Amino acid sequence: MAAADQLLKKAESRDVLFGIVGLGYVGLPLAVELANAGYRVLGFDVLQRVVTGLNAGHSHVKDVSDAQLEAIRRAGRFEATTDGSRLREADAISICVPTPLSKFKDPDVSYIVAATETVKKALRPVQAIVLESTTYPGTTREIMLPALESTGLKVGKDFFLAFSPERVDPGNPVYQTRNTPKVVGGITPDCLRVVCALYQPAIETLVPVSTTEVAELVKLLENTFRSVNIGLANEMAIVCDKLGVDVWEVIDAAATKPFGFMKFSPGPGLGGHCIPIDPHYLAWKMRGLNYKTRFIDLAGELNTEMPAFWVHKVGEALNQHSKAVRGSTVLVLGVAYKKDIDDLRESPALDIIKLLEQQGATVAYHDPYVPEFEEDGHRHASVPLTANTLARADCVVIVTDHSSVDYELVRRQGRMIVDTRNALRRGKGHRYRERVCRAGGRRLSGGDWERSHLCRCGRAENPPVAAKRSAHL
Ligand SMILES: NC(=O)c1ccc[n+]([C@@H]2O[C@H](COP(=O)([O-])OP(=O)(O)OC[C@H]3O[C@@H](n4cnc5c(N)ncnc54)[C@H](O)[C@@H]3O)[C@@H](O)[C@H]2O)c1
Repeated sequence: MAAADQLLKKAESRDVLFGIVGLGYVGLPLAVELANAGYRVLGFDVLQRVVTGLNAGHSHVKDVSDAQLEAIRRAGRFEATTDGSRLREADAISICVPTPLSKFKDPDVSYIVAATETVKKALRPVQAIVLESTTYPGTTREIMLPALESTGLKVGKDFFLAFSPERVDPGNPVYQTRNTPKVVGGITPDCLRVVCALYQPAIETLVPVSTTEVAELVKLLENTFRSVNIGLANEMAIVCDKLGVDVWEVIDAAATKPFGFMKFSPGPGLGGHCIPIDPHYLAWKMRGLNYKTRFIDLAGELNTEMPAFWVHKVGEALNQHSKAVRGSTVLVLGVAYKKDIDDLRESPALDIIKLLEQQGATVAYHDPYVPEFEEDGHRHASVPLTANTLARADCVVIVTDHSSVDYELVRRQGRMIVDTRNALRRGKGHRYRERVCRAGGRRLSGGDWERSHLCRCGRAENPPVAAKRSAHL
């Protein structure tokens, strides 16, 4: 029987051992879905502590609970190893290794190269290999294919090769690996057919495309789209700040248009393993073809400037109270790059903390998901969020809008608050009718604010224009 038919038959009967190379934010949830679909999964990672932890039933990825892991282990459908040669046992292998940037913001595909080398050593006839790591168009065909074919095995005949970008959104309670449509592009039509059949039991919707380059570019388009639109929202925040207009009110009102507008929010800057990084993969590829990707570059510039913008807002807010940044205590609320997750990678909070410290502030942070972290050799530990910690800070900067934070407490106790996410007002009934009175830390109705800047505590505020603007943001 032809190799393709053998794998199709195995997929149909679920008699497949799926190898996963790289058991991180992407690889582990994928392993769980494949095991839940009835396959046996062999996870391979170079980190002994990751493998030991998983084999002991401890998940290091927030989206996978210990209970989920325990269930697939008990069913005999999951095992982790640091022994790459065991990938020879696998019928299919998905590669989910990191794709960071080099110091000069060029793609660092060394993890893909290393993983390909491991897979190559284990490659045998009747195997399917899928690259899931985000990368520039051409990686699967130009880097992986020659390496794998150097074994003498032929793609589309002896083994099958495809690219299928992972779209997982950590912390998203609705869309997870299983119900997020999955794009697949194969090197040959049989590569596409085999890989779609292998994924089909685990993923609700598959989106086959004609080539690996199309699939690679789909992922880069998605994340570039986000980066560019977040860049536009951030520029709108700067524009509104200069005009003394509430950017959140503008965006929320624009979003009532039922067509032709998609809501993106400004914030402290980009974070995570994807949006700040992936567009650079495409920009780099295009530089090699003598083309400058202007949207990508401009969005990157705007988004990178946001931490400095917010630190400037902290300086302005302190200045209204005749304080300097130097010597002030600033409490950073949230250091994860987005809400309800524990991922610090590329988090703008790290830049905000560094900039504040460079200017002489004493910075503490609170994050319910990040008890401690180390940056540039300094260890930082989360402080408890109490009335006392809030009141002791000269300024509170909300950087990550975690759902579990008591924003009412922050509002009541914070002496001065710079809210990069609109967390204080979001979800409240009086969306645009509430303002924080900076003098008394009490609420001020929208009407009062516009007319006389009198807060309910009865003290006239009459803030200078800059104060009013910072309140808008
Ligand atoms: N995290 C996300 O939200 C997300 C979403 C979509 C796509 N992606 C992409 O998926 C890929 C993986 O990202 P991640 O967030 O899962 O990374 P991660 O750092 O969480 O996990 C990667 C794992 O791979 C392991 N590893 C590194 N080199 C290896 C090798 N040669 N062999 C075996 N294991 C190796 C690491 O030890 C680590 O456990 C990246 O390309 C990323 O851009 C990530």
